[in-house]
Amino acid sequence: MRMVDIIDKKRNKQELTDAEIQFFVDGVVSGEIPDYQTSALLMAIFFNNMTDHERSTLTLDMMNSGDHLDLSGIPGIKVDKHSTGGVGDKVSLPLAAMVAAIGIPVPMISGRGLGHTGGTLDKLEAIPGFKVEIGEQDFIDQVKQEKLAIIGATGNIAPADKKIYALRDVTDTVDSIPLIASSIMSKKIASGTDALVIDVKTGSGAFMKTLSESEELAHALVEIGKGVGMKCMALISDMNQPLGNKVGNTLEIEETLDLLKGNGPQDLLNLVLTLGSYMVVLGQKAETVEEARKMLEATIADGSALDRFKAMIIAQGGDSSVIDDYSVMPHAQFKIELPAKQDGYLAQLSADEVGIASMKLGGGREKADDQLDYGVGIELHKKVGDKVKKGESLLTIHADSSDVAEVQEMLYNCIKIADEAKPYQMIYEVIE
Ligand code: URA
Repeated sequence: MRMVDIIDKKRNKQELTDAEIQFFVDGVVSGEIPDYQTSALLMAIFFNNMTDHERSTLTLDMMNSGDHLDLSGIPGIKVDKHSTGGVGDKVSLPLAAMVAAIGIPVPMISGRGLGHTGGTLDKLEAIPGFKVEIGEQDFIDQVKQEKLAIIGATGNIAPADKKIYALRDVTDTVDSIPLIASSIMSKKIASGTDALVIDVKTGSGAFMKTLSESEELAHALVEIGKGVGMKCMALISDMNQPLGNKVGNTLEIEETLDLLKGNGPQDLLNLVLTLGSYMVVLGQKAETVEEARKMLEATIADGSALDRFKAMIIAQGGDSSVIDDYSVMPHAQFKIELPAKQDGYLAQLSADEVGIASMKLGGGREKADDQLDYGVGIELHKKVGDKVKKGESLLTIHADSSDVAEVQEMLYNCIKIADEAKPYQMIYEVIE
């Protein structure tokens, strides 16, 4: 078999055989296929897409390119959640604790932020001492004992994805449905979870900017999951504006703890409860999503979700005094307000621009090896639809330099104030 013939086939919109896809994945992992040929095939896939069968084959071959986590020693139905990535998206943190408080084991494998999107692992590392890299057996033991653990991918999970993702990043082929679906699902299947709830983001701050692209991605993810016998569902939620009121690592841990204490922002709480309800139903602790939602609300009211979060911090070496004292986390030196330039209603607050602003302050990475400044970020005082008065602060910039003129200008450019309130939709669709 020759790689050039496989590229030629996909370039001419033909379906690849199982053997050709296997040849490609094997060659990527062994290093026998040079990066320029891999990149050429990725671009051909980007333009000409893949059939359902090709997507599943690519996913399974990528999944089989490395180790599989064996979670069979953990009793019960293990349920995980994945988000396709966004700004202010700290959902996994309170969600894992709330679902665990109901008794469902949550072995969560999360990622780091890159570009304008944040990463769950970076947020957790704002807690002094918190370790996200723990061995496989410790991870399993912790989930058995505490019902939850959130860690980075261990060992050699889906090495084909690592190589392919790095090339996608520099060849502008990230936002391709078959490539995103195979990347996410190869890692999730190899991670050994029984059930998965996927939050597919749509809008300016998401990979998929339109609802129809997001629907296609959601269907692709669910089809692949079901094809391997995983219980799987997806929800499409808005990422035109940031989620919740805080963007930045320390700031998002603060908002997580506020939510677990019953003081979370409404949009974040609603999404956590909706995603969580499906996790509880898939974990077979409730018959209906309505029943599950009430159970999750009770975990906040009785403090059991906060207790699970604290147990996880302790188990992973973190300073649990953070629960009552947020000052143990790094905080920025300066707080600079952004006053509204006119009266009206907030009509736009672009998630991608707010994410880039936070990254420029030092809260995110432009390159994979950039060091993070945990304390910086953006605290929103107004969200889309809110009434605004001229001179009133729209948001606070948390910075470690008083010179934030560039960030201020960026933020003003991404904000629109209109004469009338615009309705805001948070959850668009559920795909079961
Ligand atoms: N997350 C992943 O793991 N892979 C992608 O391609 C996109 C988001």
